[in-house]
Amino acid sequence: MSNATENQDVRKGLNGVIADYTGVSKVMPETNSLTYRGYAVQDLVEHCSFEEVFYLLWKGELPTAEQLEEFNRKGRSHRSLDPGLIALIHSLPKDCHPMDVLRTAVSYMGTKDVEPFTTDSEHIFNVGHHLLAQLPMAVAMDIRRRQGLDIVAPDPDKGVAENFLSMAFGVGEDSPASNPEDVRDFEKSLILYAEHSFNASTFTARVITSTRSDVYSAITGAIGALKGPLHGGANEFVMHTMLEIDDPAKAADWINNTLDNKDVIMGFGHRVYKRGDSRVPSMEASFRALAERHDGGKWVEMYENMAVAMDERTGIKPNLDFPAGPAYYLLGFEVDFFTPLFVLARVAGWTAHIVEQYENNSLIRPLSAYNGSEQREVTPIAQR
Ligand code: COA
Repeated sequence: MSNATENQDVRKGLNGVIADYTGVSKVMPETNSLTYRGYAVQDLVEHCSFEEVFYLLWKGELPTAEQLEEFNRKGRSHRSLDPGLIALIHSLPKDCHPMDVLRTAVSYMGTKDVEPFTTDSEHIFNVGHHLLAQLPMAVAMDIRRRQGLDIVAPDPDKGVAENFLSMAFGVGEDSPASNPEDVRDFEKSLILYAEHSFNASTFTARVITSTRSDVYSAITGAIGALKGPLHGGANEFVMHTMLEIDDPAKAADWINNTLDNKDVIMGFGHRVYKRGDSRVPSMEASFRALAERHDGGKWVEMYENMAVAMDERTGIKPNLDFPAGPAYYLLGFEVDFFTPLFVLARVAGWTAHIVEQYENNSLIRPLSAYNGSEQREVTPIAQR
């Protein structure tokens, strides 16, 4: 390192840096709790629909029945199938990652929005409604086209979770959309994934917003950040790992060998929570309930054995992605679609943060400590 910057206080990964205020959610690692607008996430999971939580994140208060009805009416009016989006999705390679499809779909939606962009919150919420309605349809279409199946039409009478499951799996007897308990467990995962303060993808959305760019650009960037295995991509890696281990009796050996090789184990650890992730107990309860209904005892055993082995060796606890991965597997999703499911939920939090950023904006632009060459003179090419 150059001596010019040796003594500067560099906080790699912005670890421990408080970058701004937020009123959207509060992560409290000391009490292992998380609140959205002041409400404990565990309470919201037990008593609210995903739409109520979405409303809360955006507006700051839980809706009355009338407010929710109006909110749903508005949101569901965006559920029309766009032939351009259908053609776009069907034109993309079938072997590309579904997160790439989703990122492309949002970028495309930005090109189709003819309303001039303003930083006004009502305008941003309108875009948010559009994304909330269109993104689940894009994911469902992508799931089906890879299996050579036709599109299932959206249903304006269904909630977000049920409508999405119907579009992804159809409405037959075997579809999770036909089982209210499966729909509810899936909806709980959406509530748990909806928001988590200044995580990497939300911060990405805020950085883009801080330049006064538009919402589609901010969400496209956020999807790119979420894709990474150190962030949202972890839920897929959890399931790939469980499938690779295959036998729960081999879980402890696998954990120990991986740690001996100094590799990271996905689904464990957290930048903020060091004594456990506050969302895990609720998601774990849904995962166990799904396993009961769908003959998933093997995955529960795998989950338990991996968690015990990791705890004994390192003390590092599971994060939300650890129970969410096998829960999505039991619902019947292909592993590559787990992170797109996270997007469908987190778009609620991203939008709330975009509005908050615009309301009190300051360009996000940190400094860097230079550790390259000392200043020097250019030698013309003929003399080099
Ligand atoms: N597997 C193995 N070791 C882990 C680990 C994991 N999942 N998580 C943390 N550690 C280790 C680190 O390597 C570090 O070891 P060291 O001190 O010997 O270098 C130590 O535990 C402390 O980690 P820390 O620096 O506090 O973690 P971080 O804040 O930099 O990273 C994560 C947080 C989330 C990036 C990290 O825990 C991780 O990579 N987890 C796996 C990915 C994941 O599940 N992401 C989803 C998060 S919700």
